[in-house]
Amino acid sequence: MSETPEVSRPLTKEEPAAHGNEPGTGAEAGAGAGLMALAGASVVHRARTGGLWHRDRVYALTDADLTIAPGETVGIVGESGCGKSTLAKVLVGVEQPTSGTVTLRGRDLWAMHPAERRRLIGTGTGMVFQDPATALNRRLTIRQILRDPLDVHRHGTPARREERVRELMALVGLPKALAEALPGQLSGGQRQRVAIARALALEPALVVADEPTSALDVSVRAQILNLLLDLKERLGLALVFVSHDIQTVRRMSDRVITMYLGRIVEESPAAEVTAHARHPYTRALFSATPGLLDPIDPIPLVGPVPSATHPPSGCPFRTRCWRADHSCRATMPAITESHTSGHRFRCHHPVGPDESIHDLVIQATAPTEG
Ligand SMILES: Nc1ncnc2c1ncn2[C@@H]1O[C@H](COP(=O)(O)OP(=O)(O)O)[C@@H](O)[C@H]1O
Ligand code: SF4
Ligand SMILES: [Mg+2]
Repeated sequence: MSETPEVSRPLTKEEPAAHGNEPGTGAEAGAGAGLMALAGASVVHRARTGGLWHRDRVYALTDADLTIAPGETVGIVGESGCGKSTLAKVLVGVEQPTSGTVTLRGRDLWAMHPAERRRLIGTGTGMVFQDPATALNRRLTIRQILRDPLDVHRHGTPARREERVRELMALVGLPKALAEALPGQLSGGQRQRVAIARALALEPALVVADEPTSALDVSVRAQILNLLLDLKERLGLALVFVSHDIQTVRRMSDRVITMYLGRIVEESPAAEVTAHARHPYTRALFSATPGLLDPIDPIPLVGPVPSATHPPSGCPFRTRCWRADHSCRATMPAITESHTSGHRFRCHHPVGPDESIHDLVIQATAPTEG
């Protein structure tokens, strides 16, 4: 189990944070603490829609506060388009936030010289993408792919780099004979092993894996997940793991982050998330897993996710939430710290400790008045 994330602010337990809906309120929190920290990080894109002079904005990530401790696994869940990949890319410095800060080992990534940032990111973090077929250069051999980051960051002598390539291949279970193969000659699972080896080349402290098994055959998914978990244990890595498969996320993680429409709406210890999450959306996501002994229908999530170009006022989940009222329309809920360490959420009417999934299903399926 992870420790309480260092982003937590000095709050009274179960008291909403003051000004929690203002961007960047966490800027001071977590600075220098943990391995990696986001404070008030937002990413706004220009959409293709809108007028010639005033193109719409896409709010891909809004006011994200998050701290990753060394060695912990943080899972990220949420429906497609909610900002998981954007958050992942911000964490590994691939995407610069439009506002807010990203600190790695206490140093503000976007305040430093670009060359220094590339060095710090390149040696401190690694990223594994969804589809190894497109993430690897098709014209390079596996040996060249694995040497590339070592060459770019001038890691040891050329002889040491060759040795490191061999070590990396062994580490991820790739036979030596594949060193001169091209990615196209490998299976999907082997290609993802190469991508993982490349991410580990410079011994990073943090690896971010964005849907690392979604493009793979079902038969090899478990092997790749087990490899990631094994490497994480052996190398003491912090791991940020994004997946559609929420039960896998829950099993693999110490902490689970729930995202909705660009917002982190809950952060919960993984062991608590199914039965004790306080945000209605988290409960709905994790209710879709009836146990064999107690099969029930999941809490229905009715209607589409609103557009990230025109997010609703107040709470972003209010258009689909069965507990929504006028306050949810009026204001974005502040962050509330739960009594449980490492558990925080944004909701005006959180699920109570005594409310079971059965209760929530009944509430969510009850006919609305009028
Ligand atoms: N480069 C971009 N330009 C415009 N919109 C983008 C861009 N990248 C992502 N988005 C939008 O940002 C939102 C979040 O996307 P993403 O982080 O990929 O979500 P997820 O990984 O959860 O599916 C989506 O609405 C997506 O369409
Ligand atoms: S703030 Fe309101 S709309 Fe948002 S999740 Fe809580 S109850 Fe639902
Ligand atoms: Mg994604």
